[in-house]
Amino acid sequence: MITIYRITGIERTGKGMKILVTGGAGFIGSSYIRYMLKKYPDYKIVNLDKLTYAGNLDNLSNAEGNINYRFVRGDIADTKLVDDIIKDVDVVINFAAETHVDRSISDPADFIMTDVYGTYVLLEASRRHGIGRFIQISTDEVYGDAGEEPSEEDAPLMPRSPYAASKAGADRLAFSFWATYKTPAIITRCSNNYGSNQYPEKMIPLFVTNALEDKSLPVYGDGKNTRDWIFVEDHCRAIDIILHSNGIEGEVFNIGSGIEKSILEIAEMILDILGKNNDLIEFVEDRPGHVIRHAVKTEKLRSVLGWQPSIDFQTGMERTIKWYKENEEWWRKIKSGEYLEYYKRMYGDRGRSESR
Ligand code: NAD
Ligand code: TYD
Repeated sequence: MITIYRITGIERTGKGMKILVTGGAGFIGSSYIRYMLKKYPDYKIVNLDKLTYAGNLDNLSNAEGNINYRFVRGDIADTKLVDDIIKDVDVVINFAAETHVDRSISDPADFIMTDVYGTYVLLEASRRHGIGRFIQISTDEVYGDAGEEPSEEDAPLMPRSPYAASKAGADRLAFSFWATYKTPAIITRCSNNYGSNQYPEKMIPLFVTNALEDKSLPVYGDGKNTRDWIFVEDHCRAIDIILHSNGIEGEVFNIGSGIEKSILEIAEMILDILGKNNDLIEFVEDRPGHVIRHAVKTEKLRSVLGWQPSIDFQTGMERTIKWYKENEEWWRKIKSGEYLEYYKRMYGDRGRSESR
């Protein structure tokens, strides 16, 4: 079915725009900040990040010293701090979140505090100060299983993990602030990102760095579950277009590449690119509530705002793997201390998969 959309994307000019990016020390937020500082030398960016285990200022070492960039260490759930920052900015882009499904299964509390309550604190301050635009970085996880057809923006939200449910709460809170107070919120629901600087608890950097260390690649269940995979810079470009388009307040935009791959296909591809043996693949016990398929329709973003992905999967994966090969110091520093304890907890006595 082709949906005709009523909105038109009109280019906004944003000379000297002041942007609050939350969670900018994480994987996608840092990529977005690097992208924006390069593309818009007259924009000012404040990065508010709590620096949880996933926040890493090494991701932004080349932004240090840039007079248009300011880092504030703090919590998006801190009302006073958030109020002080938001009164001086034009736009809020909320990336900050607890983001790992597996961690949300063992310990959901932080997900509710940051992803739901933290988003509320940002929205409330944005409402009070009449913010120009609020972009809520939601996720395709809010749909739950896509089933036969990729999810459209008006599909029911059926989140299957505490992470996805917390993100669904934040997603709808942002919409409610638009519907109730006309806070100009826009919601994006992107598929699985991959690229440089991703914390190696997520599948692709975990598999790549494990393979580089000749350690096993833990594939959940039978490895047939699929995701839509998007190169992180294509995601950043979509957010850029959304930021600069008029008349889209209250709207939801799916973002995705249309490239669907299973866990097993990706594990094999990584081993192939690195010239390693498939024996490194280890089938382990499945994730509870594991979503079989995430896939999104992106026609709205493509037809209304003219976005399309630019990086094919082979190129994106080769670039990504090259980055981890060349930046061993970056991930070795992470793969110590807390990470090792996490890895032991998560994979240490995890049984082998029965469903293979
Ligand atoms: P990430 O885990 O790499 O980074 C999250 C960042 O948020 C970290 O820097 C962390 O320190 C910060 N943070 C966490 N709690 C905070 C708090 N209370 N206050 C301030 N900062 C806090 O995550 P990511 O993969 O870069 O994801 C960024 C956003 O994109 C998230 O909202 C996520 O839900 C969304 N998203 C991610 C993907 C993906 O594939 N990674 C896909 C779709 C949407
Ligand atoms: P992940 O990177 O955690 O992202 P999400 O759960 O948000 O999609 O996982 C991507 C896929 O890879 C998902 O189907 C679960 C699977 N997976 C594994 O098979 N092994 C692993 O060690 C991890 C972390 C994920």
